[in-house]
Amino acid sequence: MIKVTKAVFPVAGQGTRFLPATKANPKEMLPIVDKPLIQYAAEEAVAAGITELIFITGRTKRSITDHFDKAYELETELEKKGKTQKLDVVRSIVPENVTCIYIRQSEPLGLGHAVLCAKPVIGNEPFAVILPDDLIDDGLRGATKQMVDKYERQRKSVIACMNVPREDTNKYGIVEAIPTDDSSLFKISSIVEKPKPENAPTTLGVVGRYVLSPEIFYCLEDTPRGEGNEIQLTDAISLLLNKESVYAFEFEGTRYDCGSKLGYMQASVEYALKDDDISSEFNNYLKERNI
Ligand code: UTP
Repeated sequence: MIKVTKAVFPVAGQGTRFLPATKANPKEMLPIVDKPLIQYAAEEAVAAGITELIFITGRTKRSITDHFDKAYELETELEKKGKTQKLDVVRSIVPENVTCIYIRQSEPLGLGHAVLCAKPVIGNEPFAVILPDDLIDDGLRGATKQMVDKYERQRKSVIACMNVPREDTNKYGIVEAIPTDDSSLFKISSIVEKPKPENAPTTLGVVGRYVLSPEIFYCLEDTPRGEGNEIQLTDAISLLLNKESVYAFEFEGTRYDCGSKLGYMQASVEYALKDDDISSEFNNYLKERNI
């Protein structure tokens, strides 16, 4: 049985929608309540049984490396002050059996190019791709676990999809797909990056979770620059369709687009409402404001 043990986190984008916050700090380090987006993503991967976390980083992303590294001074201070609970929080960010690997994408040539940068460390294995700014709350196992389970059963690439408003098709990769015996899986017949609403073949949009067969690397190598003059993962998946079946997967859970200000604020409110420390006071605050 082929196990999925590696996940790629493309975090080299410029995050222009969050400027000026992202001028010197990565978008992926923005917190939802008290945890950065990148940590939610890493925890989701670990919950899916993944043991190698591969970060594709760029300029201004050093704090991501620091976040997953040991923080000797902080740990010593917390220990001295007897703050054991906080010490546990800091120490448990990366479990002992998990390895972090960092690869620098020297130029932001697109999501497809970022994924291709992982080829030397993935080799000939299936792998997950997780975009940390898509936060998915399924209340339990995590979207990546749902997808890894599907991959391990099907042995075919699986892409997370959801229905999006027609006026938003130009923000997503859009797939055409036919139903299968499994009500959550659809066999993709075509995929196109960010079509205008009037040209979109469907409203089934791709969101930031993929489990891909290694064949995608050869497709990426053959993919010319597309939308936005970038090498698009969507275009490489379109080439992959000529070689193998690829499935759209309607995952369980709520997805927040934390790469946009609106989605980020929605996630912040929802996660604050279930945070052990502040949920009741925050709820009262919203009531006082008649929200
Ligand atoms: P986005 O389309 O969200 O771009 O990239 P962005 O630069 O992060 O944000 P905006 O649109 O300027 O606000 C989708 C994902 O692909 C990664 C990003 O880090 C994000 O996780 N990416 C994008 C790369 O790693 N490299 C690239 O060259 C482009």
